[in-house]
Amino acid sequence: MGIPQPAFYMFKCEQSAPPGMPKPSCVSQQNPESQQLFQYLSQKLMQEGIMGTVQPIRTGCMNRCSSGPVMLVEPGHTMYTALTKEKIDKIISEHIIGGNVVEEFVIDPELWDEPISPTDMKKQMGM
Ligand code: FES
Repeated sequence: MGIPQPAFYMFKCEQSAPPGMPKPSCVSQQNPESQQLFQYLSQKLMQEGIMGTVQPIRTGCMNRCSSGPVMLVEPGHTMYTALTKEKIDKIISEHIIGGNVVEEFVIDPELWDEPISPTDMKKQMGM
């Protein structure tokens, strides 16, 4: 038996805009809780005993900044928005452990429509 791959990856956007930047960012000084969310997520996974089979990953901007703080869960392309510690608790218990996406926290489909395959993208670009 090989080393098991993770069942889930949780990509937490850790981008912070410099102070004074008008553009919103997922980690900001205006939202002190946003600075603690990655650590909170990691601690929670450890407490639950599922760290490793669930891999938290710090990422840069995923281009949905106005919906932040955001986190992408794979597999499934599930994008969660406006994260708080309470939402992380619910996402871990209901989605990661329970197997049901927490629909009420999922991004508006207008902002997260079906992907375009790279093959189709190349065709659209005339390449
Ligand atoms: S800063 Fe997080 S999505 Fe852009």
